[in-house]
Amino acid sequence: MSSLVWIELDSKAPDHNLNELRSSAKKDVLLCAVIKANAYGHGTAQMVKLLPSADWFAVNSLEEGLELRELGVKKPILLLGHVPLEQMNEAVQADFRLTVFNPESIEAICCPDHYHKPVRVHLKVETGTERQGVLLEDIPDFVKNIQDKKEIIMEGISTHFANIEDTLNHEYADSQLAIFNKALKIIRKQCDTPQIIHTACTAASILFPETHFNMLRVGIGLYGLWPSRETYLSTIMGKLRVPDLKPVVTWKTKIAQIKTIHEGSYVGYGCTYKTTRKTKLAVLPVGYADGYDRKLGNTAYVLVNGKRAPVIGRVCMNLTMIDVTDIPNVKLENEVVLLGTWGKETITAETMASWAGTINYEIVTRISPLLERKIV
Ligand SMILES: Cc1ncc(COP(=O)(O)O)c(C=O)c1O
Repeated sequence: MSSLVWIELDSKAPDHNLNELRSSAKKDVLLCAVIKANAYGHGTAQMVKLLPSADWFAVNSLEEGLELRELGVKKPILLLGHVPLEQMNEAVQADFRLTVFNPESIEAICCPDHYHKPVRVHLKVETGTERQGVLLEDIPDFVKNIQDKKEIIMEGISTHFANIEDTLNHEYADSQLAIFNKALKIIRKQCDTPQIIHTACTAASILFPETHFNMLRVGIGLYGLWPSRETYLSTIMGKLRVPDLKPVVTWKTKIAQIKTIHEGSYVGYGCTYKTTRKTKLAVLPVGYADGYDRKLGNTAYVLVNGKRAPVIGRVCMNLTMIDVTDIPNVKLENEVVLLGTWGKETITAETMASWAGTINYEIVTRISPLLERKIV
């Protein structure tokens, strides 16, 4: 673990964000914190600590769920992804809530003799994302399979929206919700309504109360980030409550070398940058191996002494060069903010995402899990 590159997490922001999102819903709606992918790159152990108000946690994989149990999490844990059939037993014994969409998974569930708790599954309905989910026409047989196994309880039913974040036009989301409501009707013909119905990611939680049912399943908003500009605009245009989301991460490093190079010098691999003046160059010990995207080369800025310094040349595996000619008093081992605020300047995840041609989700999620996460 390098002590020259690290992440600082705002200790108050995650629970504040959670409660802001909760305020968009009715009082009795549960809040499930999605902390998959190392809590969107923020650090699983840290985010569990910083989200005391979460009612449930959701992760993608069995391994992520087991990590939460090792951390001592006693709250309900929902696994969103496929559990390998041969590891179903492990998932059952750890008392995870299983998202189910394959008949084979239902078949593979069996309880050891000494295990007397019901296995609680959440049926995922395919409503138009064409990802994981059971098609409407397959629901009756699927539910029958569940009913045939007395050790299984269908505790929940869910779906996931495909097109809320990318658009101001919410017809597709409406059509998905209509299909989901049809699925509920089909299920109600066969059995009691499952106790927990959940469809709303962050954008749906903010924009569509009709998607809340009785649990929100939110990720990006907890980390203080808006799902997209369109979600923000839709909130304003719809005159809806605008949650006050506070970013959690500041990503920092320290300068590892400073030197003044000649006019006409090439910087970095591929000689993609040539100085046009005598240039004070600082070398940062961070690169794409740390999750600092290679596309940030010759494009991004970082903050030094509260001022913007351009990244010059390509981002290397472990090193990045910046031009600090115009910034006074820059010294070896000065702190540098790659992502976050310093004084009046901020590099947001959205800005970095636009420089790298991606979305804020990917920027934070790909920060290397090897970097230290400090709660401040
Ligand atoms: C199934 C599922 N539910 C909820 C979420 C949370 O979405 P968001 O981070 O937009 O709130 C995700 C995120 O990818 C997801 O895959």
